Amino acid sequence: MDDVTIARALHVIGVVLWIGGVAFVTTVLLPAVKRMAEPKDRVRFFESIERSFAWQARGTTLLVGLSGFYMTHVWDLWERFTMIAFWWMHAMTAVWVIFTVMLFVAEPLFLHRWFESRAKAKPDRTFRLVQRLHWALLTLSLIAVLGAVLGSHGA
Ligand code: HEM
Repeated sequence: MDDVTIARALHVIGVVLWIGGVAFVTTVLLPAVKRMAEPKDRVRFFESIERSFAWQARGTTLLVGLSGFYMTHVWDLWERFTMIAFWWMHAMTAVWVIFTVMLFVAEPLFLHRWFESRAKAKPDRTFRLVQRLHWALLTLSLIAVLGAVLGSHGA
């Protein structure tokens, strides 16, 4: 077994943990928080639970990015980024860039504080915004997964 095959397996494990976690947060955790907490407490309650997932998401984002770029480098797949037929390579990279910016830059620098102060002023609307953002990211991620599996297996 060569090391790119191992990189591919690690890539998929990272994707499963990461996007699976996003799916759980979107379809199970957020609706549960909505049922269990008062509107004014929802965003704070949600963030306190999600904090431990944020670290898992950071780790898996790194693993997926490193293994993805490693495969692209060793197989010399850079030209794919110039071809529309490989839209799923763009989709994977776009999902990765969005999450990387959110988790490593926006969240620690200002997003966390922005959500907290907005939740105090408009709790209902802020929670709905959190839900919509999660649905948008999950949908985009699943489109990337679908395209990547079909595309890399000859579809
Ligand atoms: C830095 C970003 C990324 C790069 C450079 C990258 C690169 C790659 C490469 C080169 C492959 C192998 C393609 C082939 O065999 O022809 C691959 C496969 C795959 N990637 Fe990514 N990827 C990235 C991020 C992601 C993300 C964020 C996801 C999930 C949303 C993802 C999901 C997948 C899946 C499901 C496969 C197919 C595995 C298989 O069926 O064997 N990748 N990726």
